[in-house]
Amino acid sequence: MIQDDESMRGGLSTVRREGETILRPWRVWTPAVRELLRHLEQVGFAGVPRALGDGPVDGHEVVSLLRGEVGLYPWPRALLADGGVTALGRWLRDYHDAVRDFRPSSQAVWCDPDARWRPGLIMRHGDLTSWNSVWADDRLVGVIDWDLAIPGEALDDLAQLAWYSVPLRLPDRQRRVGYGAGGAPLARRLRLLCDAYGADPADVLDALARLQCDETERIARLGPLGADPWAAFLRQNFIPDIEEERAWALAQREELLGHA
Ligand SMILES: Nc1ncnc2c1ncn2[C@@H]1O[C@H](COP(=O)(O)OP(=O)(O)O)[C@@H](O)[C@H]1O
Ligand SMILES: [Mg+2]
Repeated sequence: MIQDDESMRGGLSTVRREGETILRPWRVWTPAVRELLRHLEQVGFAGVPRALGDGPVDGHEVVSLLRGEVGLYPWPRALLADGGVTALGRWLRDYHDAVRDFRPSSQAVWCDPDARWRPGLIMRHGDLTSWNSVWADDRLVGVIDWDLAIPGEALDDLAQLAWYSVPLRLPDRQRRVGYGAGGAPLARRLRLLCDAYGADPADVLDALARLQCDETERIARLGPLGADPWAAFLRQNFIPDIEEERAWALAQREELLGHA
């Protein structure tokens, strides 16, 4: 866990902990994200940082600290255990229930400047990677880093969660978190995640293939404009990386559905 007075560089942001608060860079879309976090607070949804204060503090937003271990490499034991994906699936079910009635204000802008909410969409977390999940005492504390929140299809959040937390990633990345390549454990974890959320794994794999296309399209569209996070994703070669993971997941489809 980040220590008091420590600064830490994540994938995109340098954040600083001050006591029980975290200071993160204030971005154009931060006001919209804070509206979302305030809604979650009002409906009593735990497991997310609270938006604190009224506005930027020295160019930073202030959110509450979630105490625990972040799902970096090596993964916390709780995330490696099957109970970890079940906890994530339940968290997402509860988040989608909590956010269903949220309507962003008409001025809301998000990390993708072209994204707009419309009826039928929900606010996605948008960055449901293992390294934005926080674990303590073998349970999920919550999910941090709401910077990439975006209006979208609910199933896309689940597909992204499956991608990073089953994980539906290339074999070397599976080994890094502690799995052998492919096989039954991944099919079981995918099913546990989907059961906990209430979705069909085949639909989630279809959504993942679409989501991965959307992600590469967005980086190709917004990256060359020079603004982060898209420019950083372009520089970090995310497009071929995502394409490779998409091809891997498609080739493993039958095995991941437990049919092979
Ligand atoms: N609300 C929070 N509670 C606890 N730790 C946090 C919180 N927000 C950020 N951190 C810590 O700071 C790191 C980077 O922050 P994050 O918001 O994920 O930025 P990035 O956009 O760079 O991924 C996280 O991996 C985590 O260790
Ligand atoms: Mg992060």
